Amino acid sequence: MKVLVVGSGGREHALAWKLAQSPRVQLVYVAPGNGGTALDERLRNVPITDLAALADFVVKEGIAFTLVGPEAPLAAGIVNLFRSRGLKVFGPTQEAAQLESSKDFAKAFMKRHGIPTAEYETFTDAAAAHAYLDLKGAPIVVKADGLAAGKGVVVAQSLEEAHQAVDSMLADNTLGDAGARVVIEEFLSGEEASFIVMVDGKHVLPLASSQDHKRLLDADQGPNTGGMGAYSPAPIVTPQLHARVMREIIQPTVRGMEKEGIRYTGFLYAGLMIDAQGNPKTLEFNCRMGDPETQPIMARLKGDFSKVVEQAIAGELDSVELSWDRRTALGVVLAAHGYPEAPRKGDLISGIPAETETALTFHAGTTLADEKLTTTGGRVLCVVGLADSVRGAQSAAYETINRIEFDGMQYRRDIGYRALNRKH
Ligand code: AMP
Ligand code: GLY
Repeated sequence: MKVLVVGSGGREHALAWKLAQSPRVQLVYVAPGNGGTALDERLRNVPITDLAALADFVVKEGIAFTLVGPEAPLAAGIVNLFRSRGLKVFGPTQEAAQLESSKDFAKAFMKRHGIPTAEYETFTDAAAAHAYLDLKGAPIVVKADGLAAGKGVVVAQSLEEAHQAVDSMLADNTLGDAGARVVIEEFLSGEEASFIVMVDGKHVLPLASSQDHKRLLDADQGPNTGGMGAYSPAPIVTPQLHARVMREIIQPTVRGMEKEGIRYTGFLYAGLMIDAQGNPKTLEFNCRMGDPETQPIMARLKGDFSKVVEQAIAGELDSVELSWDRRTALGVVLAAHGYPEAPRKGDLISGIPAETETALTFHAGTTLADEKLTTTGGRVLCVVGLADSVRGAQSAAYETINRIEFDGMQYRRDIGYRALNRKH
């Protein structure tokens, strides 16, 4: 069969790579794809981003199912459109995607259903928002309500910074409609983890745990990014914490959506903050898989992923059992010069080694033209190492990175440090 993955990042390369391993899958289309998906002969890029045109393509090619990577097409209603045309697709509807596309929707939803999260208020009026900041004090967190491609969250250490964030979103409109409403919430301290599950409307199938590294620089310094590296499993997610997150966050979310008349289907990603006592709170929901979390997670997934997706679409996730490579997978993002503010494009990439049992390279901001691979965006590659220990996976990833070159390449040297520092 032929299948389609929608998106162009490292997450989509990893999903397509995994689907292509299935003996049942002849060809994986990736729309629009990147330089890495162009290089792999089991994958084929499709230069279509218009959703109606993509649905036409799926019909014409007789594609068995579509897997959607990023939030933008989900928030734009790709699942509603494909279903209305009788096409099989895995992802949340536009209504369900509000858990990610509106922070105010997600916060109000969590409050209604008693799901643990930071205390908050929502504002459209700048004066009221400023007054609330003065009342609460710093540190405090200011978030744009809408999708802002990773630029919508300001974790303010000082009130001055918080007031500036409110002014830039509500008064100066720097984020447009996405920032016309802001959520101001309590600062939570602790350690983050990514908790990602598949939902078929009724049943929930958890994927392996993972942990991202959001800041640009080593030791979690510098600006927030889309994510500079991730590993799986995340030892902070103990079996006890796992059970608690399922019981207190994931199950109430899926049931709560159903009670409100919205059947949740698709990946559901809860970004967790786990405090020093081990209590989890929900920082955010994403209605998709994480990037770069997907890269180590897919590197560890065993078995035929195309069957899992088909069963998810059929509402049969209760009969699926996933099995995981016992090794740790650790992915390091190689970013372009100037990322995240102003990433430079057009740098020539060389030295990417062929895939081995212990190292894989997934592409994101790359393009292939005239047999030359060049950078086209902020996060360029994600190199994943696999080994029995976190240290070993880290070495496998960094040894591979040493062979890769492009001008202005920047990456963190400490991916996995929290797992390494844990006292067992
Ligand atoms: P979000 O897009 O909501 O996950 O926010 C991006 C990042 O900002 C998170 O991964 C956290 O590192 C940080 N963050 C968000 N909300 C809070 C909060 N309430 N307290 C502390 N840090 C936060
Ligand atoms: N890596 C964080 C995210 O995908 O939102």
